[in-house]
Amino acid sequence: MTDDYGRNIRYLRLSVTDLCPLRCIYCMPEQGVDKLEHGQILTVEECIELCQACAELGIDKIRITGGEPLIRRGIVDICRGIGALEGIRELCLTTNGVLLPRYARELAEAGVSRLNISLDTLDAEKYRRITRVGEMGDALAGLAAAEKYFKNTKINCVLMGGINDDEIPALVDLTREHAIDLRFIELMPIGECSGWDRGRFIGGDAVLAAVPELESCGSSGVSRMYRVPGWAGRVGLISPMSHKFCADCNRIRVTADGKLKPCLHSAEEIPLQGLHGGELREAIARAIRAKPVSHVMSETGHSDSRRGMSGIGG
Ligand code: 5AD
Ligand code: SF4
Repeated sequence: MTDDYGRNIRYLRLSVTDLCPLRCIYCMPEQGVDKLEHGQILTVEECIELCQACAELGIDKIRITGGEPLIRRGIVDICRGIGALEGIRELCLTTNGVLLPRYARELAEAGVSRLNISLDTLDAEKYRRITRVGEMGDALAGLAAAEKYFKNTKINCVLMGGINDDEIPALVDLTREHAIDLRFIELMPIGECSGWDRGRFIGGDAVLAAVPELESCGSSGVSRMYRVPGWAGRVGLISPMSHKFCADCNRIRVTADGKLKPCLHSAEEIPLQGLHGGELREAIARAIRAKPVSHVMSETGHSDSRRGMSGIGG
């Protein structure tokens, strides 16, 4: 359906847990986040019912996020239920990849159409430094499992000045042989990293400067696309900071505790848990209509959202 600014809202990002076994420095505090109470988390049935209401309102793409969605109990049932809904054209899932060796096949069978895998480095020591507790071998095994069971897998890499920008050429080199989209995402000052040194926040243009062979080849959603001529994959730049895309925004978000967020950076949240049928649909429709025109990050340049990314769904 269309919002008050004429934007056609057709994409829902649904977070199914705010927990994650990793502790990426920009996303999670070292000690993790307080677990939401069991009753606060949407049940498997509630997740599916909510997606059905969204589908009835014209949402045709759903992305499952977290935290890390694959640690959520019932994740395969959630995907199967959503995958079977009429009107859902695309069901995607964003994961750190660590549990994919175990789940990739079941997810594909449940109707997940595509995966996004988060990988910020190809250096094992740096992977440990960024994720605090992760093993890069696990993420690479996940990537291999994704390639086995899915097409068009995307890798999301968060750019951090002084941390992984020296690896831009090596990361881009993944697209030489692999038919993947490697997408560099500008770090947003939200949650854990909101107080970081300005030098950590670098624009997507750093990628073009580091790999001048990249040639523009259009756009895909919020991503400006590039490729090295002759290589199998593509490189995407997602630039929420340097190139605002609010005017084309087609998405809404629902947190694991059932709060609809019309905008990532706004503090506004509409509670949906406990609503059913027409009431649920009407609450979602009202929230879509009133979606803010753009993310006004407050004077400090920070997000107004009271949650970090693990609590919203990255
Ligand atoms: N800025 C940009 N992306 C973020 N993510 C989490 N925190 C941030 C942030 N501050 C996204 C990344 C990561 C996914 C899980 O969430 O894309 O890959
Ligand atoms: Fe987990 Fe992703 Fe956050 Fe890292 S960025 S801690 S993998 S949710």
